[in-house]
Amino acid sequence: MTPISQGHEITAASRLEHVRYAIRDLACVADEVVKQGHKVLPLNVGDPLSFDFQTPPHIIEAVYKAMRDGKNGYAPSPGVPEAIEAIRGEAGRKGITTVRDVFVTAGVSETVDLCLSALVNPGEDVLTPCPDYPLYSAVLCKLGIVLNAYDLNEDDAWQPELADIERKLTPRTRGIVLINPNNPTGSLCTRQMLEQVAELARRHNLIVFSDEIYDKLILDGTPHLAFAAIAPDVPCVTFGGMSKNYLVPGWRIGWGIVSGDAAAVKAYTEGVHRLLRARLCANHPEQYAIRPALEGPQDHLIEVQRKLRSRRDLTQKWCEATPRVSCVAPRGAFYAYPKIDIPESDEIFVKELIRQKHVMVVHGSGFGQKPGTQHFRIVFLPDEQTLTRAYAGIAEFIRERYGNS
Ligand SMILES: Cc1ncc(COP(=O)(O)O)c(C=O)c1O
Repeated sequence: MTPISQGHEITAASRLEHVRYAIRDLACVADEVVKQGHKVLPLNVGDPLSFDFQTPPHIIEAVYKAMRDGKNGYAPSPGVPEAIEAIRGEAGRKGITTVRDVFVTAGVSETVDLCLSALVNPGEDVLTPCPDYPLYSAVLCKLGIVLNAYDLNEDDAWQPELADIERKLTPRTRGIVLINPNNPTGSLCTRQMLEQVAELARRHNLIVFSDEIYDKLILDGTPHLAFAAIAPDVPCVTFGGMSKNYLVPGWRIGWGIVSGDAAAVKAYTEGVHRLLRARLCANHPEQYAIRPALEGPQDHLIEVQRKLRSRRDLTQKWCEATPRVSCVAPRGAFYAYPKIDIPESDEIFVKELIRQKHVMVVHGSGFGQKPGTQHFRIVFLPDEQTLTRAYAGIAEFIRERYGNS
């Protein structure tokens, strides 16, 4: 008897059609170039460990010890108590006085997924920034939620555009996402902006999701302002994690800090905990690095900030000196988001740049941008020599393909 075979195509859910992750999608083009024997200069992936940054040894020791001490089973769903206590302490140092709950997740990526999933019903929406870190739109697409994006204003150092937020608010809007410091623009929200967003949240009963994963990577010496510290009464989940500040993106450790009026956040927090229990727990031994990271020596940050400042300055100088390119100077994280004046799409620009000069950046359309504008995102984590070579390649490409004016 011939075995029965199932020849019908198994299709993916149609709600995934709009899920894009341009950063990784470009990898196919890079693979072509690598197969031809070229080395690609990677200014596209925000992983410090791919460059000259090292994990502080004492936090590696803490995980190693946790494994040796038998912390290899499932952890409590919200996280291990010593990690939760340490994150509460960190919230205090950030000036957050109304902490109602803390939970540990598999990176901020999982915090985003859980917090959005616990909030929205079909037909409701959440305001997300444009440009945005693409995970937000991907999770909302996965939930079948129609995107409702508000503009960041390039002419105002990429601050959220309040008038656009007001325009986009509907009776079914439940929350608003802030990314501060921002990916992809490297901008920081001003105190006044945070106060205005808080006022809006109060008036429209919104929860604020404040993604502060880069809060220790501030490059201009100003203190970082946590939204929840500015607006202690407003329901808020502050997202933080180990990936960037403590140089361990592969460990997958992040967290959420719920703050605001206790009665206002109670039911929502219980919803988040249902989801936390359903997915069992975050990585267990890695959670034992949270306390030593947050409470131990912070020396690595001085070195990280020094390198990033110098690489940011080099990047900014190049943007200012290069025809067709202009850029709002980044103030935090390790991203720059220059505007480029070219007669074709930024996606073609980026793909041809990889093919012809073997330099990899990400097109602005992968993050969202105002219609009629073109951008690309630079990750300025590589050392000065690599950046200089990459920028020479990009400038040459622009001159050859578009001319200098
Ligand atoms: C703004 C922002 N939020 C969240 C994440 C995801 O971080 P994690 O590694 O903690 O999942 C990233 C990663 O690049 C990011 O840039």
